Amino acid sequence: MTDHLTIVDHPLVQHKLTLMREKDTSTAGFRQLLREISLLLAYEVTRRLPITTRWIETPLTEMQAPVIDGKKLALVSILRAGNGLLDGILELIPAARVGFVGLYRDEETLKPVQYYFKVPTQLEDRLTIVVDPMLATGNSSVAAIDLLKKAGATNIRFLCLLAAPEGVARMKQAHPDVPIITAAVDSHLNEKGYIVPGLGDAGDRMFGTK
Ligand code: URA
Repeated sequence: MTDHLTIVDHPLVQHKLTLMREKDTSTAGFRQLLREISLLLAYEVTRRLPITTRWIETPLTEMQAPVIDGKKLALVSILRAGNGLLDGILELIPAARVGFVGLYRDEETLKPVQYYFKVPTQLEDRLTIVVDPMLATGNSSVAAIDLLKKAGATNIRFLCLLAAPEGVARMKQAHPDVPIITAAVDSHLNEKGYIVPGLGDAGDRMFGTK
């Protein structure tokens, strides 16, 4: 993948995203839609995985058949909202290795601080897909990718549901080698760092918290 930003404009993705944006969508509905949309986004983020072939036997004959090449993918969820995207993707790629990055915002410096970091081994040999539904300021995704690069990852893609132009620009400046795959880029961030029009707090909406 070379394009820095891919917007998945598939009608199913756009329709489901609209339902997720609506403020009266229930927690159960939101969660179900996120699971469905994550399958469609996973299809897009894995589109250009390297392929090799191996000999198999069908009931009729032998053939050289395509299979995905290389080491198992690493999926890395940025806690906690990333887990909503992760669950759906794991249904499609059940053998993927999984990591978690936990970051909170220091209220004085406003910088992300790491409180949890556990990732698969041999990241240097794996495609690493970082998942977080909302790319807002870009602070946490940039920090998470900094940590993953320090841990050895060299081939990283960032998958989100919604992005703000500010977050896309920040990622492009900090990590121009990391393609972003998203369902939409919205208008702007408000003064509290929410994406507008957005869908609200993705974590609260998927877990029913406030
Ligand atoms: N995180 C969210 O959950 N929603 C936003 O709008 C921005 C960041």
